[in-house]
Amino acid sequence: MSDWYRDFANSGFGATITKQLGLPRPVELRRYEPGQPLLPGPAVVGSAGQGRLRQQLTALLIDAGVTVSSPEADGERLAAVLLDATGLTGPADLAAAHALLAPAVKRLAPSGRVLVLADPPADADSPAQAAARQALEGLVRSLAKELRAGATANLVLVPAGAEDGLAGPVRFFLSGRAAYVDGQVLTLTPATVPAGQDEDRPLAGRTAVVTGAARGIGAAIARVLSRDGAHVVLVDVPAAGESLAAVANEVGGTAVAMDITAPDAGPRLARQLVARHGGADVVVHNAGITRDKLLVNMDADRWNAVLAVNLQAQLDLTQALLDTAGALKAGARVVSVSSQSGIAGNRGQTNYAASKAGIIGMVRAWAPAFAERGATVNAVAPGFIVTEMTAGMPLGTREIGARLNSLQQGGLPVDVAETIAWLAQPASAGVNGQVVRVCGQSLVGA
Ligand SMILES: NC(=O)c1ccc[n+]([C@@H]2O[C@H](COP(=O)([O-])OP(=O)(O)OC[C@H]3O[C@@H](n4cnc5c(N)ncnc54)[C@H](O)[C@@H]3O)[C@@H](O)[C@H]2O)c1
Repeated sequence: MSDWYRDFANSGFGATITKQLGLPRPVELRRYEPGQPLLPGPAVVGSAGQGRLRQQLTALLIDAGVTVSSPEADGERLAAVLLDATGLTGPADLAAAHALLAPAVKRLAPSGRVLVLADPPADADSPAQAAARQALEGLVRSLAKELRAGATANLVLVPAGAEDGLAGPVRFFLSGRAAYVDGQVLTLTPATVPAGQDEDRPLAGRTAVVTGAARGIGAAIARVLSRDGAHVVLVDVPAAGESLAAVANEVGGTAVAMDITAPDAGPRLARQLVARHGGADVVVHNAGITRDKLLVNMDADRWNAVLAVNLQAQLDLTQALLDTAGALKAGARVVSVSSQSGIAGNRGQTNYAASKAGIIGMVRAWAPAFAERGATVNAVAPGFIVTEMTAGMPLGTREIGARLNSLQQGGLPVDVAETIAWLAQPASAGVNGQVVRVCGQSLVGA
């Protein structure tokens, strides 16, 4: 779907007008394609204090074919700036963060990346150290709002013992897979991370289930998981059978016509996964519905339908998979689609926002039990995603919705799909119980 305003703002006449009027100037984002280098240019790696990750980060970049340039080198445009802030002892050390970032960010290329790595504030030895670590969140979220031309800034918190899980998240945030992930804070947990992932086909040999896969974001998820090597089992309601079959054919997957709210849906799916596929490695709970009304006008049917599809079915399906021997393979990855509405709330969506906030509670509560199986469970919360549904909105409402974020444009279904596919990777073992927003750092919500 084309972005008429972005095309206009980047035309000769449009560029002049938007500049004079101070209007948003969105650019086309750098998005991932298989075989593409991790970064289209050099990166610099610096530190604030005596950090423990700088060497590991430099080695990781060199291993990925990235040229690591000196922070002092002049002129060259940078594709990424990485700051190891694990050495912070107190607020005075933050001056080193400023000293590295200010000149380096000036040299950042379009769709450039700023990535800051630090320890969690909760693990600090003193209030001063906790303050310095927490300060980074304000720094990164503000910098993300200052960056232009498709550049992003994100923060990864790495507790002691979680260093082995660093490579997957670092690669993700630097890559075009994270095009629409901006201003986020991700906390890793210590985990055993399998080595030697094929970066072009990280899901090769894996079976992935996607609910609501007949269209929209679900179909995009099925395509990206298949591109990354997975055999995809696509679930959708019987009424969507024709489009479900078309997407399944396209990705060489298996279509399963099933209403996920049916009482026997979980056990049926679990049995089928064991019998036909030897279990699932990846489960993506994407199916979701809206039945919007102000709370005072909302009948029980609207409330119940949304809670049943968006939340209860996810709990029941996951429980059935956990209860059926062999249905969830070792190291499984479960990803639930939440929403910005579940974080910020949305007028007319008490039922939907309740269901989507509930998903966040669910993944956080399940994370420790999943960790014990070497598995993970996470949520992805999309913001304004350009779909057929948003294309039907009145122009004004749509444009306001699409521009109110740091990247000044709506995300694409593929942006949500790329984030889910990353969480599904073996290398994402250290990401568990997290909520990753795919919202271009929406101005709505935290
Ligand atoms: N589109 C957005 O901007 C946006 C933003 C935030 C979150 N989301 C979430 O992303 C997910 C996908 O959204 P979308 O825009 O692609 O929606 P969509 O309506 O285009 O697709 C949803 C799919 O789920 C299927 N489904 C619904 N009920 C089902 C059931 N009981 N059993 C099996 N399948 C069922 C539908 O048939 C449909 O194919 C949803 O969970 C939605 O809440 C979307």
